Amino acid sequence: MVLLPMLRTKIKQLLRAEAPCSQVLIKGWVKTRRDSKGFSFIELNDGSCLPNIQVIVDQTLDNYPQIAKITTGSALSIQGRLIESKGQEQKWEIQATAVDIIQLAPENYPLQKKRHSDEFLRTIAHLRPRTNKYGAAFRIRAALSWAVHHFFQERGFLYVHTPILTGSDCEGAGELFQVTTLDLASLCASSTQGVDYTKDFFGKMANLTVSGQLSAEMLALALGDVYTFGPTFRAENSNTSRHAAEFWMVEPEMAFCDLTDNMALAESFLKYLVEYALAHCAEDLALFSRFVDKQLPFTLEKIRSAEFIKISYQEAIEILIGSGMAFEFPVAFGNDLQSEHERYLTEQYFQKPVIIYNYPQNSKPFYMRLNDDGQTVAAMDMLVPGIGEIIGGSQREERLEILTARMDQAGLPREKYEWYLDSRRYGSVPHSGFGLGFERLIMLITGISNIRDVIPFPRTPKNIEF
Ligand code: 4AD
Ligand code: MG
Repeated sequence: MVLLPMLRTKIKQLLRAEAPCSQVLIKGWVKTRRDSKGFSFIELNDGSCLPNIQVIVDQTLDNYPQIAKITTGSALSIQGRLIESKGQEQKWEIQATAVDIIQLAPENYPLQKKRHSDEFLRTIAHLRPRTNKYGAAFRIRAALSWAVHHFFQERGFLYVHTPILTGSDCEGAGELFQVTTLDLASLCASSTQGVDYTKDFFGKMANLTVSGQLSAEMLALALGDVYTFGPTFRAENSNTSRHAAEFWMVEPEMAFCDLTDNMALAESFLKYLVEYALAHCAEDLALFSRFVDKQLPFTLEKIRSAEFIKISYQEAIEILIGSGMAFEFPVAFGNDLQSEHERYLTEQYFQKPVIIYNYPQNSKPFYMRLNDDGQTVAAMDMLVPGIGEIIGGSQREERLEILTARMDQAGLPREKYEWYLDSRRYGSVPHSGFGLGFERLIMLITGISNIRDVIPFPRTPKNIEF
């Protein structure tokens, strides 16, 4: 007979048990340990959920002298009985029958039981997932990634993979990270005549993508409704709490879809994600409501239940002018809305999510559909309290002549985009899409105010540790 090794049970599962169990195996890391009258009490966590499980170790265990030296951060494998706890704090606990020390953590383990500042934890981003707060944030991030797929799959969207290495600049903002295999040091030393890209890996200039949109459009114009969800990169030198150089974007793209349908989908999508978090991440969310943002339950409930405000850019400008607020950046038709304007609208004036549509064409990329007024394009931005812009999207220009004219205006080299223009030559149809910044979503849902704290290893100007 072959004896199968006992499998470990996740602590999350044990804490939800409906009956005691005579033998379980758990593995995890020690949060705390204390001694009391012939027993050692260990709080063990394995990352599967926020709460620890309490393990009671009797001094009669053979290796009790070693157990009594177990420190915070040590890794253990424990066999025992799952029994009902007599304590008030928890329903279940483990009565250990064997405690194997996988590795003892030294006394200088940086995450001793006390509150650490976010700034300090950023300097040990490789260890911070072990704290309650960051563990909770990354579990919520995982749950919401799944929810993204769920939302689109339920609606018949196909998940497509768009390239990360590209030769184009979707947003036309020139915020590209260049990718090269050329030896930059020797280029600098030897040449004053510019770079010969025919010698580079792709034989031409290449960069990391700022958005999967242009490729997603090609797939939507063959497959109908598609979405991508992947990393995007921007060499924006903005050192703010809402910009990262590497961030994840969810980008649906829909054929036969206009701006109104696009805005409706964006609203349902955000509501779905908030509802999903409320329904599936309650325990982790409670930590954020308690320690990070006391208003969080109200914010999330409002997003879940409110009808989002939809106003044109023109109306937004009128509200801002009428507000009497002393903004740093002047408000006038044609000027870009700045973060202070966006936040005034969503946080003070409406106090709920706002979608602004029909922006002046000069402030938006070449691919957005020109409206009949000849001035504005069918763009939309969704703004939410605490964050500002969380979604940006548009109906795309499907008319070849207008699109090429806008490209010329924007100074884009036509030959680089012939492939894109083909979609407007062969069965062009109205289509739309948007991009949701996934880190900004996690900020909204957890109340975490800095983008550096919602992605495990943040990349920002002058910072590429780990
Ligand atoms: O508004 P953006 O630039 O739109 C696009 O890239 C479109 N091509 C998307 C599309 O229509 N398929 O970016 C979309 C969203 C923003 O609303 C914001 O949430 C997020 O991406 N975002 C950033 N998030 C973190 N750091 C940055 N540097 C970001 N830049 C944009
Ligand atoms: Mg935008």
